Amino acid sequence: MRHKNRIAAGAVLIIAVGSAGLTLSRRVAAQSPQPADPIADNAQAMVNDGRKIFRFDTFGDEAYWGDTIKLHQAVAGAKLGGVGPGVSPKTALAVGLKVDVDALPPAIVSGLKAGTVDLTDPATTLALMSLNAVVGITGFFSPDGKQLQSMGVQCALCHSTVDDSLAPSVGHRLDGWANRDLNVGAIVALAPDLSVLTKLLGADDATVRTVLNSWGPGKFDAELLLDGKAFRPDGQSGAVLIPPAFGLAGVNLGTWTGYGQTTYWNAFVANLEMHGKGTFFDERLNDATQFPIAAKAGFGNVRADSDLITSKLAALHFYQLAIPAPPSVEIGVFSFTARRGQALFNGKAKCAACHVPPLFTEPGYNLHTPQEIGIDDFQANRSPAKGYRTAPLRGLLTHQKGGFFHDGRFPTLRAVVDHYDDFLGTGLTDDEKNDLVEYLRTL
Ligand code: HEC
Ligand code: HEC
Repeated sequence: MRHKNRIAAGAVLIIAVGSAGLTLSRRVAAQSPQPADPIADNAQAMVNDGRKIFRFDTFGDEAYWGDTIKLHQAVAGAKLGGVGPGVSPKTALAVGLKVDVDALPPAIVSGLKAGTVDLTDPATTLALMSLNAVVGITGFFSPDGKQLQSMGVQCALCHSTVDDSLAPSVGHRLDGWANRDLNVGAIVALAPDLSVLTKLLGADDATVRTVLNSWGPGKFDAELLLDGKAFRPDGQSGAVLIPPAFGLAGVNLGTWTGYGQTTYWNAFVANLEMHGKGTFFDERLNDATQFPIAAKAGFGNVRADSDLITSKLAALHFYQLAIPAPPSVEIGVFSFTARRGQALFNGKAKCAACHVPPLFTEPGYNLHTPQEIGIDDFQANRSPAKGYRTAPLRGLLTHQKGGFFHDGRFPTLRAVVDHYDDFLGTGLTDDEKNDLVEYLRTL
């Protein structure tokens, strides 16, 4: 009897708890309908946020580009309250800046088509900046909109270009495509006040400008402010090509020399290269032998008063990984050359040993010694792990300008293939080399 009662009491309790739980969940459901797929919703929200950050966020770096080195003054020119001749749209396009056609009002679009927009007047550049139409650059204007008071830069400056749909360098944005026309060094060298760099590098103004002007189009030296090595032993610039920033999902180490994963580098660049305001930590940069400048300046542990970067890293990372490489060219049944090239890539030519399809880098730890790929160690030695990262090969045709490998030492894909054939001793015939190149062009 007692025993039975106990069971009954327990059952009542369960029913009570059960129905309370039911009421509660019904109530929650009524208040905020559960999305059908919270993960997909989150992914979409992150991509939307990340895109905005990638394209438009300066992370407060106008304090550097405008307020400190005063680049905006050179852009505006003396007539418009700055210094010097100013930067006309013609000059801006000549140093590789791109214009986002989707930010332009119809009047300017038709003016550009008709050739009635004055491309020689810096005032036009300022007008484009106030429309947020210059890819990767934001102008900060006086309240009346007349005076350019500061300027900042974004990721998109180097990592986006346009499809030239309206005119050369004017079109829809192509995020993740390397801007190989952009002459970062020449742009920075326009800045009237480079004292922050002369102090950091311990070099005079003329030397710093010579270094900046030595980079050339499509290149930037992200390690200069760490080790101060502006030139290689052979006298060439130490700058490297802007790599594509698409197709990075699944790729382990990022950058030519494998500094870290994509989110590592995003934080690195936003803090140390763009000079945004944030937090950055990497003890490896405290090594005064390898990174004398960084160690002295404390770049291994940066803590800005207000952090405008850290809260954006997740969405930025998400967006970066979501940017697909341009679609590969489908190899048709009758594309005999590309088919033979593919077989060579995966076989005799030994490429797939490192460039594992379809990532075209190694799943796992994708770093190699300079000796393993038959090139010098200058750039490798400027990174903590002293290696070269197996470059993911998708979309090679989007970044032919400036050549291939980190410094563009091989002007064409054929030159790359010749190098490997020679170095790996694979003994490819001339026809086989052509086939291999044909395959690389489809990736
Ligand atoms: C001034 C030009 C410039 C700007 C601005 C810039 N980058 Fe880069 N980026 C480069 C260069 C050059 C490299 C190659 C660096 C190296 O390997 O030493 C690079 C490398 C990368 C890579 C590695 C790609 C790979 O192949 O693994 C990623 C990811 C990246 N940048 C993301 C960003 C993000 C995100 C921002 C904005 C926070 C940004 N970059 C801003 C020039 C730039
Ligand atoms: C031992 C590993 C390894 C092998 C084998 C190898 N590669 Fe590479 N590859 C690399 C690394 C590492 C890089 C990056 C070099 C640099 O940073 O300068 C690279 C770069 C490249 C690039 C330049 C990509 C760019 O964005 O500029 C191409 C093209 C390329 N390899 C094609 C090939 C082909 C074709 C083969 C076969 C004939 C091959 N690779 C064999 C490791 C390898």
